Amino acid sequence: MRVDVVSIFPAMFDALTEWGITSRALKRGLWELHRWNPRDFARDAYRSIDDRPFGGGQGMVMLAEPLADTLAAIAAAGASPRAPVIHLSPRGRPLDQARVKALSELPALTLLASRYEAVDQRLLDRHVDEEISIGDFVVSGGELPAMMLIDSLVRLLPGALNDARSAVEESFSTGLLEGPHYTRPEVFEGVTAPEVLLSGHHARIAKWRHEQSLRVTAERRMDLIARARAEGRLTPADERWLASIPSVTEQPENS
Ligand SMILES: C[S@@+](CC[C@H](N)C(=O)[O-])C[C@H]1O[C@@H](n2cnc3c(N)ncnc32)[C@H](O)[C@@H]1O
Repeated sequence: MRVDVVSIFPAMFDALTEWGITSRALKRGLWELHRWNPRDFARDAYRSIDDRPFGGGQGMVMLAEPLADTLAAIAAAGASPRAPVIHLSPRGRPLDQARVKALSELPALTLLASRYEAVDQRLLDRHVDEEISIGDFVVSGGELPAMMLIDSLVRLLPGALNDARSAVEESFSTGLLEGPHYTRPEVFEGVTAPEVLLSGHHARIAKWRHEQSLRVTAERRMDLIARARAEGRLTPADERWLASIPSVTEQPENS
C-alpha cells in the first residue's frame, strides 16, 4: 500500500517509520510512506501556507493553492492517480474498524493532515474525497490522527503482524470488545489467573474467552451488544450467558 501524507511537520511521521509494527511492515515492503510539505509549494517568498480568515475571527486558515499544488504533485508522482484524498478533521465521519478494514484494501491513499483553525473550504470541496475524525475531541493538528489511521491500516496488511490471528481476534474485528488476558506468574499479589486458561483445554478456553468478550462488551459498550443483537450475531447461548451476569443485568435501562 502506498500512503502519501501532506503535513507541515513531516518528521512527526518518524513515529511510524522508526518504531514497532509499522516500522517492521515498512521494512518488509508491505507499505510505503511519501511525505509532502505544502510549504514546498508556497507561492510567495515567505513560504506562506496560511492567512487570516475572510470575515474576521480567530485563528488562521490554510491556503487552498499550496495544498492544491501539493495534491497535484502527489497525483503526478503517485502510482495510483485515483487514490482517495482523506482529510483528517473533527468534522469528519468517526473512524471505526469497518472503515479501517475497507481502506486497508486500497492500493493507495493520500492523507491531508492540516493545522491551524481550518482549511479553505474550496480546497476541501474540490480536492478531498472524505473527511475522517478520530473522535469527538480536538487535537492540535492532523498528524496524530493520520498516524492513528495509518497504524490501524498497516496492522491489517497481510504479513504485518507475526500472527495474523491477532488482527482477527482483536477488539472490534468481531464487533465485540476483547476479554481479559493473563500471563506469568500464575499468582500475582494473591490473585490467581483463571484456572481455565491453565487447563490446556482448547474448547473450554475458547468458550471462556468468548463469554468474557461478551461480558466486557456488555459492561462497557451496550451499543455494540445492541448492534450485534440487531444483526443476528448473538446466539441463544450468548443471550443466556448475558442474562446470567449480574453486572450486566443490573445496569440501568439507558446506560
Ligand atoms: C485545532 S484543529 C482545528 C479544529 C477546527 N477548528 C474545528 O473546530 O473543527 C487542527 C487540525 O487538527 C486535526 N484534528 C483535530 N481534531 C481532530 C479529530 N478529532 N479527528 C481528526 N483530525 C483532527 C484536523 O486536521 C484539524 O484541521
